[in-house]
Amino acid sequence: MSKVYVFTDYGGPETQQLVDRPVPAPRGGELAIEVRAAGVNPADWKIREGHLGRDWSMPAPMGREAAGVVTQVGDRVEGFAVGDEVLGLVASGQGGMAEHTLLRASMTVVKPEEISFADAATIPVAAATAYDATHKIELEPGQTLLLLLGAGGGVGLIAAQIGRVHEFTVIGVASANKRELVESTGAVFIESGPGLADRVRQAIPDGPDLSVDLVGGDALRAVADLTPDRTRIISAADPDTAAELGAVSLTRTDEAMAKITDVIRYGLVDPHADITFRLDQADQAIAAVETGHAAGKVVVVP
Ligand SMILES: NC(=O)c1ccc[n+]([C@@H]2O[C@H](COP(=O)([O-])OP(=O)(O)OC[C@H]3O[C@@H](n4cnc5c(N)ncnc54)[C@H](OP(=O)(O)O)[C@@H]3O)[C@@H](O)[C@H]2O)c1
Repeated sequence: MSKVYVFTDYGGPETQQLVDRPVPAPRGGELAIEVRAAGVNPADWKIREGHLGRDWSMPAPMGREAAGVVTQVGDRVEGFAVGDEVLGLVASGQGGMAEHTLLRASMTVVKPEEISFADAATIPVAAATAYDATHKIELEPGQTLLLLLGAGGGVGLIAAQIGRVHEFTVIGVASANKRELVESTGAVFIESGPGLADRVRQAIPDGPDLSVDLVGGDALRAVADLTPDRTRIISAADPDTAAELGAVSLTRTDEAMAKITDVIRYGLVDPHADITFRLDQADQAIAAVETGHAAGKVVVVP
């Protein structure tokens, strides 16, 4: 048997629990792995709350991304062998917060030696999202500005670093206690909260060439007017408000995971997988993300 963290009904964290299941066997197109680390994302609690559909089979394993060692290769999978160290998106209904799980082979890449399992586990969702959000509209190096809402979170810290790799000027918006963290990426820090629009106007009177929203709601509304062309606001957090404002919702690409894995491998971007919990503390890991104010990435290690 093998442990997996699940929720058994839509709602709060009270139905989350660690349970035993048989070690999952890969179906066609899947890889079985022994999990070494799993990334925790806002999607985990949003799914549990029923915000992302209500057709999940119960008990529903939690965790969308994982890194580990291949133990079995499913049919129709090429390019992977038992013993490979990999990172990838978890197969439907499996959960990354587990001792063993299944990955979608088409959304899995070999983990470079230079990347730790904890960092690797944050690549399939958070880092790949940061890559897509910063590449949807190509900017020119040097004279461009990237306004990043939620710059101190899991996606934001990576997006800020990608912006700096491209030599964009990055304006990172976050709460006061994240100033140092945001500035460590090379971004110019601006404090979130009341008066944000004025502070941004003062820092960049002509407005940003690209805004990336990782917060949504009122925070997105507050800065919408600052971006001269609203189709240059990309929101990963709030498709409804983005549509209402004439902004653009993030779309994910297949190539992002391999591309950002290379960037991280060469040490150009640090995923900040700094907050680690054991599998039997997965409730605390999810709670840390559910506050909406985690600094960097939260990872669960079996
Ligand atoms: N579409 C996709 O494929 C995709 C993939 C990954 C993530 N996402 C979404 O992208 C968003 C960010 O993900 P993440 O993993 O980076 O989340 P995260 O690590 O929880 O970071 C969110 C950041 O938002 C900031 N924040 C929270 N409330 C705020 C407010 N009222 N005003 C200003 N800032 C606020 C927090 O910063 P402070 O503590 O400084 O306030 C926090 O650092 C989430 O909504 C997530 O669901 C989408």
